[in-house]
Amino acid sequence: MNFLSKKLSLAFCVLSVSHAYGGDFQVNENSIIASKNNSQEWLSHGRTYDEQRFSELNQINAENIDRLGIKWFADLDSNRGHEATPIVSDGVMFTTGAWSVVYAHNALSGELLWKFDPKVPKEKAYFVCCDVVNRGVAIWEGKIFFGTLDGRLIALDAKSGSLIWEKMTVNDSKPYSITGAPRIIKDKVIIGNGGADFGVRGYVSAYDTENGEMAWRFYTVPGNPDEGFENSAMEMASKTWKGAEWWKYGGGGTVWDSMAYDSDLDLLYIGTGNASPWNYKIRSPGGGDNLFVSSIVALKPDTGQYVWHYQTTPGDNWDYTATQHIILADLTIKGESKKVLMQAPKNGFFYVIDRTNGELLSAEKYVQATWASHIDLETGRPVKTDLADYDDAEKLIFPGALGGHNWMPMSYNPKTGLVYIPAQELYMPMKKDDEYEYDDKGWNTAGDLTVMAPPKNLLQLMLLAKSIRGRLSAWDPVEQKEVWKQYLTLPWNGGTLSTNGNLVFQGTSEGELVAYDAATGERKWSKNLTNGIIAAPITYSIGEIQYVTVLVGYGGVFALQAGLPPKNSGGPINGRIVTFALDGDLSLPDRPRNIKMPKPPSPIEDQASVARGEDLYHWECHMCHGAGAVGGGVLADLRYMSEETHEKFNAITLGGLYTEKGMVGFASRLSEQDAKDIHSYLIQRANETYLFETVNSALK
Ligand code: HEC
Repeated sequence: MNFLSKKLSLAFCVLSVSHAYGGDFQVNENSIIASKNNSQEWLSHGRTYDEQRFSELNQINAENIDRLGIKWFADLDSNRGHEATPIVSDGVMFTTGAWSVVYAHNALSGELLWKFDPKVPKEKAYFVCCDVVNRGVAIWEGKIFFGTLDGRLIALDAKSGSLIWEKMTVNDSKPYSITGAPRIIKDKVIIGNGGADFGVRGYVSAYDTENGEMAWRFYTVPGNPDEGFENSAMEMASKTWKGAEWWKYGGGGTVWDSMAYDSDLDLLYIGTGNASPWNYKIRSPGGGDNLFVSSIVALKPDTGQYVWHYQTTPGDNWDYTATQHIILADLTIKGESKKVLMQAPKNGFFYVIDRTNGELLSAEKYVQATWASHIDLETGRPVKTDLADYDDAEKLIFPGALGGHNWMPMSYNPKTGLVYIPAQELYMPMKKDDEYEYDDKGWNTAGDLTVMAPPKNLLQLMLLAKSIRGRLSAWDPVEQKEVWKQYLTLPWNGGTLSTNGNLVFQGTSEGELVAYDAATGERKWSKNLTNGIIAAPITYSIGEIQYVTVLVGYGGVFALQAGLPPKNSGGPINGRIVTFALDGDLSLPDRPRNIKMPKPPSPIEDQASVARGEDLYHWECHMCHGAGAVGGGVLADLRYMSEETHEKFNAITLGGLYTEKGMVGFASRLSEQDAKDIHSYLIQRANETYLFETVNSALK
């Protein structure tokens, strides 16, 4: 924060001390339920238990939005992805940054009140598919709860940030991780985990908020039948896995993000992830739906008892998680009032489900989807196309494994009746790994990752690049059709916020926060925040003033893997909390720009080494350093390595010299020759790029 903003915010504190922080954060079930009709605070991940992310506040509205400006901002400590939705209670904003660090700021001034670093071991970065991110905290009766990347659930004192209790929620010899925000229902904190791409068995657990004792655990996929089933739901599920010792692969179905709660029906809804490994024929060669992967499951929150399920992708083969944001609403469908649950999972269909019993009411494509033609309403099942299977040949599948929509929260505005989906148009090439064996130290997709190397044919490359973009879609869930859309240059844009000011807010991968007219989609306002935005904005009010806050900080799986740096990317920049209000007048410091590309080492003559290096690079490195060695704007672009880095290449790659930066050593996976071949490939890519840049700047 700069000096002026500090002074301004001090003045604000004095003026509004009576509404400022200093409460005792006594949030409970009643306060969260009451916040449905009182939008001043933001008390739960999706604001309310129905997770609509709609606020009644309308001081900032479509008429005066051009007056919106930055009121305060606060820098965080990491340049990795920032995905959290902050919680605001009693004038304090609680959020997580990257590496599961928790921050409490004065919500009026941005002053840092306390910070808690759970000291996640940096080696953990290797065992997460999608960056060292965290999606936020939960608050309950004076305590703050959050999960850590290495699988702990932690309770802190909300006033001081001091540790109250800490529980390991996973078997830490397995590649589990936590990135999702906990939800709290009736003194139980509910948390899931991730890791299905590495081969784990998914589950969700509930812990007592007072002392951290586990109250229940619900597994989402069956374990080894010889060890007996935990409950009748698992016994039922086991009949849908066939023909292999599937439990040895973990099974997947991890509950890594979405949950919602209906306090009248007393049902907790969870979304489950993809299967482990991705490839269905390897996992369950005898067929079967593989319950409960890629499903929505309703549970009793007191006991974790199974009530119903709906599986969006039976026999998942494409990493089609159903962990995407779940919204509960009451809709009038064909003249009848229905209690529904809505989801736009990765597989490209928008589902409206009767949340009392799990019955499918309707499902339509919200983006292009080639794997299925439609969902049969009689059976509730997708009707697959010839393009779905990739057993014999490589296929381009729409949506790709990153989904038509990923974890970025949607929002529902009951006034417009529209759901605002941060959708994206993305394919993925898929090919079976014929030599697949379970790897207890690495990825377990059973897919051939070398297909991620960009095509050499320029025309093909351009066509593919053209078919990738973002799309903010305003969806009518009753009619099951898009009412308006806005295309965005890149996929991987932020979650959405709807307000009663007839506005929808969304941050973009390119680094702008944008406000649209909620009814028409007209672009009303935008602000460049100098770094990609993937988190969802929130809004709250203190005193008479409405604020809008968003976490800025590019990252997550697309940013690491797909190698399409946003136009705002420059030198590394840390995550930031940015808060807006009418007549806010601060500006952000300029972002350091990329330095000139250093001259790479001489081109490599040994083309066999380059070719081998390209394959190895896509097996081992591209998920963090970008397909084709094009950095996505977050981690080092390995074409731009300096002379010293080239010298230290083996020490970094094999020896783990940069472990503290989150770059593990690969000595247990790669030989010296492997490292040499990868290096050859990178030098080749650097030379190609250097030539391009030299010609490009000569032409300027
Ligand atoms: C789990 C993510 C991850 C994977 C997988 C990964 N890296 Fe890294 N790498 C990092 C991080 C984090 C850094 C340090 C931060 C930065 O430089 O942006 C880094 C830095 C590096 C650097 C230093 C670059 C520089 O210019 O300073 C080299 C070299 C490197 N990695 C090589 C590799 C190679 C080769 C592979 C594959 C064998 C690989 N990395 C796989 C995360 C990863």
